[in-house]
Amino acid sequence: MTDDLDDRTRGGVVTDERDLRAAALADPHRPAYHFTAPAGWLNDPNGAGQRGGEYHLFYQYNPYAAEHRLIHWGHAVSTDLVRWEDRPIALTPSEGPDAEGCWSGVLVDDGGRPVIMYSGHAEGRQTACLAYGDETLTSWTKEAGNPVIEPPADIDLTAFRDHCVWREGGRWRQLIGSGIRGEGGTAFLYESDDLLSWRPLGSLVVGDAAALPSADPAWTGTMWECVDFFRLHPDGITGPPDGASDDPHVLLFSAWDNGRTMHPLAAIGAYDGRSFEISRCQRLDLGGRHAYAPQSFADESGRRILWSWMQESRSVDAQREAGWSGAMALPRTLTLDASGVLRQAPVEELSMARGAKLDWAGETDRFTSSGDQIEFAIDADIPIGSGVEIGMLATADGEERTCLRVSRAVSGELSAVLDRSRSSLDDHVDRSDHVGAVPSDGDVVRIRGFVDRSSVEVFVDGIALTTRVYPTRADARIVSAAAQGRSAISTIAGWALDGQEAPVRAMGTAPLRREEHVG
Ligand code: FRU
Repeated sequence: MTDDLDDRTRGGVVTDERDLRAAALADPHRPAYHFTAPAGWLNDPNGAGQRGGEYHLFYQYNPYAAEHRLIHWGHAVSTDLVRWEDRPIALTPSEGPDAEGCWSGVLVDDGGRPVIMYSGHAEGRQTACLAYGDETLTSWTKEAGNPVIEPPADIDLTAFRDHCVWREGGRWRQLIGSGIRGEGGTAFLYESDDLLSWRPLGSLVVGDAAALPSADPAWTGTMWECVDFFRLHPDGITGPPDGASDDPHVLLFSAWDNGRTMHPLAAIGAYDGRSFEISRCQRLDLGGRHAYAPQSFADESGRRILWSWMQESRSVDAQREAGWSGAMALPRTLTLDASGVLRQAPVEELSMARGAKLDWAGETDRFTSSGDQIEFAIDADIPIGSGVEIGMLATADGEERTCLRVSRAVSGELSAVLDRSRSSLDDHVDRSDHVGAVPSDGDVVRIRGFVDRSSVEVFVDGIALTTRVYPTRADARIVSAAAQGRSAISTIAGWALDGQEAPVRAMGTAPLRREEHVG
C-alpha cells in the first residue's frame, strides 16, 4: 500500500501565519466568491451536511503552509451556501492512528450526537477513526479505541481510505474506498450496530482497471478515493442507499492511480443491499481532476448537493509561494434525467451573489463584455455542423484567452472543448485542453459559466466542466460569445459576482513544534 500522494506530499516550509494570509490575499488568482481556506492548503470537502438549518462544510486543511502535509479538518458554516463563517479547526492530528493527518471522512448523526468518521493517517497507512462532537459541532473528542477498522489483511490492496456512512435496515452501513491489486478500484461494505464494531460484508462492486487504457478520460483507476453512495430518483427524491428500494443508486468515486489523482466518476445502477450493478458510468466533470474528491449530502429541503475540490494547475512551488492552494467548486444540485444521465446545476442561492448586470456589446451572433468575477447565461440553438464559441479572461489582442467551444456533429450529442492553450503566458502552468461529450437533445442549448479569477466552471445542458487558468495580464478580462455556422444565440445575460469573504479570517493555527512541520 502506498501513501504517496504525488507531489502534494513533498515540501516542508515553515511559514508565519500572517505572511501566509497576506500572500494569499495579495494573489490576483485567488477566487473571491468560491470557498477557500483563510490561507494555507485545502483539499477535499468533508463532513458536508445541514443541521438545524445551518450548512456545515469541513475540509482537508493544512493551516501552516500551502502544501499537502499534516492535514487537519477546517470547518465553516453558512445559512445560505454563499456566505461562510469560519469555525475553529475541528480535527488536529495527535499521537496515535492520525498522528500524520486527519484524512477524509463524513459527518453522521447518532441519535442527536454528531459523529465524524474519518481516515487517520500514520506510518504510511490509513485506518478508520471516530470523533464525537458537541451540539454546535465546534469541539470534537476522538474515540479512545481508534482505529475502529483496519484494512483487511488477506487482500492485496492498493490503498484503503475515505468513508460513506448511512443507516439502513436499522443498522449502520459503511463503504470504504480501496483497490484490489491486479483488478481495479473497489468499495468495501461494512455493517455495525454502534459505529464502533464493524462486520465486513465484502466488496460492493469491483472495477476493471484493464477495461480502458489508463489515458482514457473515463478510466476507473486502480483505487477509488472518496466513495459517495446514495439513492436518486428522476422525480428528484434522494436519500441514503436502500437495498429494499428499486430506485436508481449512484456511486461517486475519484479514480486514483499510484499517487496520481485522475478524475471523479459517477456510476449509476441497482443496489440490492449487498452489491451494486452498474448500468452506466459517466464522467462527473469534464474538467477531470479540477473537480476532485466530490462529496454530496441531502439537505433539509431534499436537494442532493455536491461539493468538490478544485485542484490547482500551477506548480507546487508556485502554490507554496502564493500562500494558499485549493478552492471548493460551487455547490451544485445533482439530478438524474429521464434517460439516466446525471446533471448538475449551481445552487440557486448563488443568485444572491449577483451584483451589477453585465452590458453586452454587439448583437445577433457576437457579443462582448468584461469581468474576471462574473456569471453568464447563454441560450443557443446549435444545429448539426454548427457551434458556439465563448471566450473568457481574454485580452483585446487575444494574446491570452480561455475558450469554450460547444458544437454539434450528430443529433442528441454536443461536443464541449475547453481550450487552455492560450490561457496564460506563464509556461509553468498546465494549459492542456478538456474535451468531452454532452448528451443533449433539447431545442435550446443552455450554457452557464462562472469565472472567478483563476477558476472557470461551465455547465453545458447541466454537464459540468471545471478548470483552472492563470492569465498573467491584468487586462485579461474580456468575455465574448459568438455563434458559428447556422447557430443562433437567443438570449445572453451576465452579472458581476461579488466576493463574500470576511475581511478578517483566522487561520486557526496552534503553535507547532518545529519538527512537526519541517519536511
Ligand atoms: C483525495 C484524498 C483522500 C484522502 C485525502 C487526504 O484527494 O487523497 O483519499 O483521504 O485526500 O488529504
